[in-house]
Amino acid sequence: MGASAGGPARVYLGIGSNLGDRLASLRGARVRLAVLPDTRLTAASRIYVTAPVGGPEQDDYLNQVVEIVTDLSPRGLLEAVGGVESALGRERRVRWGPRTVDVDILWYHGLSISDPDLEVPHPRMKERRFVLEPLADLAPDLVLPGGVTVRAALDGVQDQDVRLFQADRAEQTLSRSGGRDMDHAAIHAEIRELAREKQAVILAHNYQRPEVQNVADILGDSLNLSREAAASQARMIVFCGVHFMAETAAILAPDRPILLPELRAGCPMADMVDVEGLRALKAEHPGAVVVSYVNTSAAVKAESDVCCTSANAVAIVGSIPAEKEIIFTPDRNLGSWAAKKAGREMILWPGFCPTHDLIEVADVERARTEHPGAKVVVHPECRPEVAEIADAVESTSGMIRFCREDDGHEYLIGTELGMIYRLSQDVPGKRFHPVTGVSVCPNMKLTTLDKVLRALREEGPVVTVPPGIRAKALRAVERMVEVGP
Ligand code: 13P
Ligand code: SF4
Repeated sequence: MGASAGGPARVYLGIGSNLGDRLASLRGARVRLAVLPDTRLTAASRIYVTAPVGGPEQDDYLNQVVEIVTDLSPRGLLEAVGGVESALGRERRVRWGPRTVDVDILWYHGLSISDPDLEVPHPRMKERRFVLEPLADLAPDLVLPGGVTVRAALDGVQDQDVRLFQADRAEQTLSRSGGRDMDHAAIHAEIRELAREKQAVILAHNYQRPEVQNVADILGDSLNLSREAAASQARMIVFCGVHFMAETAAILAPDRPILLPELRAGCPMADMVDVEGLRALKAEHPGAVVVSYVNTSAAVKAESDVCCTSANAVAIVGSIPAEKEIIFTPDRNLGSWAAKKAGREMILWPGFCPTHDLIEVADVERARTEHPGAKVVVHPECRPEVAEIADAVESTSGMIRFCREDDGHEYLIGTELGMIYRLSQDVPGKRFHPVTGVSVCPNMKLTTLDKVLRALREEGPVVTVPPGIRAKALRAVERMVEVGP
């Protein structure tokens, strides 16, 4: 059954529907493809709308492309795809007419096959914007027959009427789902109902899974979410993020429960600084002002004079009297970027974010070669040499603002991968690619819809901060939320 001597084959399939419940047909096809034998569904593009050509009066098509990795041979896959279509009750009344679902093998592991019933790569994909648009979401640099890339072919078909499907934003999850493409609609509805009943507000960080972002009341970066927690009138706060974020909310809103759906969601960078070590450093530099990144424990915040996030680090550092020494914890990368921007020397704690520190100059250079003309936007948790060569260095919400206001239309994003989804939702019509696919924060991904639902049902786990620590940390955190942007 093996697809090739080199192991499993990567395959792109086009799914289309313009009859009946079109979204349900697309979803049904994805779910069935994901469970084919020896096959994993590894990615799904966004959904596009295409006006039908010719034939009787009919609805617009919805089109999507999925990537699978399979051990099925091309013929085995062709049969399996036929099975998927029949299981979905495929109906096509007349040639060129409406159809409930169509699944086409577009590209099979670079193989070239030309049998009457199986032609790969698909002979007409180069001419069809409704195939190229979704394919470009997943594989813009895939080389098509004739040596042209998907991206280049797309330039030649811009006159065809294809647009991003916007009606149901929840469907627009450009997801790397690792083989599971689940229908989240039911659980989403249950969460919203329970949140309403219990007067809970759901806050989610920009790095959360798409389906968790979709269920939240408020999305944002660490600074926005802290401010929202402080200002919220809700009876309880469900924090979809990591532990230090829930602790910060508990410092700012001590009168209501702060639920963290997954207690194991920590931040390895926050764990790199401890109270004893910080006290020892303070003893070596008496009189130094301690600026701590919000990515710290409440106990470390209590030992700090002021906290900051990546959105206001430069302003906070710049506000400290020039004659004062500054200790900055725990992120050496954010610290050196803020020091440079604020024109200050600082004593940097040697911590770092394992997710951002993975991004290298070589990754930026490679991505720039693959996407010439795209602007590079990175997070200040990246290494200084990466920040140095970027076009912009921004917090996660700063990235949204920058990409929205900037006149470019293609961006290489150097931060946690969840941001690609956030940007694709908030800045429609522009293209976003990760600088590298390796920058995933496993802690941010621990929160799932099931856990959010359970947290609401059980009203726990609750994150608390001991009153003594809270009282000391509050001062530093309040200054943080007061300072711009
Ligand atoms: P911001 O969302 O504040 O930019 O922070 C990024 C981060 O790593 C949070 O853990
Ligand atoms: Fe911590 Fe980095 Fe994950 Fe943010 S992305 S939570 S800094 S490990």
